[in-house]
Parts: sequence; C-alpha cells; structure tokens
Amino acid sequence: MNLPNHDLRQDIASILINETELQTRIWQLAAAIDQDYAQTNDLLLVCALKGAYVFLADLSRALQRPHHLDFMALSSYGGGTTSSGAVQILMDLTQDIKDRHILVVEDIIDSGRTLTYILRLLQARQPASVRICTLLSKPSQREVEVKTDYVGFEIPDEFVVGYGLDFDQSYRQLPFIAVLKPSIFLTEK
Ligand code: IMP
Ligand code: MG
Repeated sequence: MNLPNHDLRQDIASILINETELQTRIWQLAAAIDQDYAQTNDLLLVCALKGAYVFLADLSRALQRPHHLDFMALSSYGGGTTSSGAVQILMDLTQDIKDRHILVVEDIIDSGRTLTYILRLLQARQPASVRICTLLSKPSQREVEVKTDYVGFEIPDEFVVGYGLDFDQSYRQLPFIAVLKPSIFLTEK
C-alpha cells in the first residue's frame, strides 16, 4: 500500500508518452473510427476494465458519431508484471450484442491472450462485427496473433503504468504513460 501523501511521480523512471502525445493520437484514432463507422448508428464500445477506463473516456469524447458503451472486466495478471496466461471473466456485459457493431477498447496488448479470449467470447454471441482499438501494443511480446484494427502506439517491451494502467493496482491516475523505477518492482509489498 502507498503511504498517505506518497508522491507517485517519484516512482517514475521516465515518461514514455506525455499528455499531449496521448490526446493528439486519440483524436486521430477517433477520426478514423468516425470515418469507418459512418454508415451505422449502432456502434457499441466495449471497454475492457480496468485498464482501459481512462482511454475509453477520452476516446468516447473524441468521437463525433453516436455510440453506446458497455463494460467487461477480465483478469489475466496477479499482482506481478508478467502475464500468467490464465484469463478469468470478472464482470460480463449488461446487454445482448447480437447483430450489433462492437469496438473493443483495450489499454494494451502484450501476449495477446486476453484479447484472444475476449474475441472468442464476443464472436460466439454473433455480433454484426467486432473490431479492436488498443491504446498500446507490445508487438515483441506477442504469443498469440491478434488482429488489431486501431493501435495508438507500439511500445518496447517495458512494463508501463499511468493513464489507466496499473502496477499492483496503483499508478492508474497518472495522466501519462510512464516506466517505473526498477526499485519499485523489487520492493516487498
Ligand atoms: P495480454 O493478455 O498478455 O495481452 O495482457 C493484456 C493485459 O495485461 C492488459 O490489458 C493489461 O491489463 C496487462 N498489461 C500488459 N502489459 C502491461 C504493462 O506494461 N503495464 C500494465 N499492464 C499491462
Ligand atoms: Mg486490460
């Protein structure tokens, strides 16, 4: 647990993507999505909790086209920084997605296992279409190939936090994408 008044920024080694870079890229992604979905008024953004909540909020507000939102929570990581490979559904969608156009909004694709699981789950419910929009991608870490329709940034194989992404549930509130100091990983909780 963090101590009261603990300054999260002192745990940061470097900022990988700053606030301006994030917003600029999100507006570009939103413009592309607006264009691709110009023929439908039935777009449903499915946010993969928890990590994608900040990205979803900004992406949704950058979109000009009408759309609805829903949320799904999956867990693939314990408290650590490497994927366990095991995916668990913690919270399901609140609505039927049959014949609807689905855009899955993810924070990051690492091994690709979480997304593969989500896709299989959603496809079984017979939506009209499913596409993926991820803020970050670590292509070098891919264990399962997944098609990504919209990618914000490709990043190197480093564990990142901020803008919704956590380390052991902390650092989500930082407004940028950052790399933690190695000492943070080594500290006993
Ligand atoms: P995958 O199943 O290995 O593709 O992992 C995807 C999930 O792992 C993401 O949705 C994140 O929740 C988490 N994750 C992967 N890499 C990072 C990282 O660098 N920082 C924080 N969370 C990460
Ligand atoms: Mg995630």
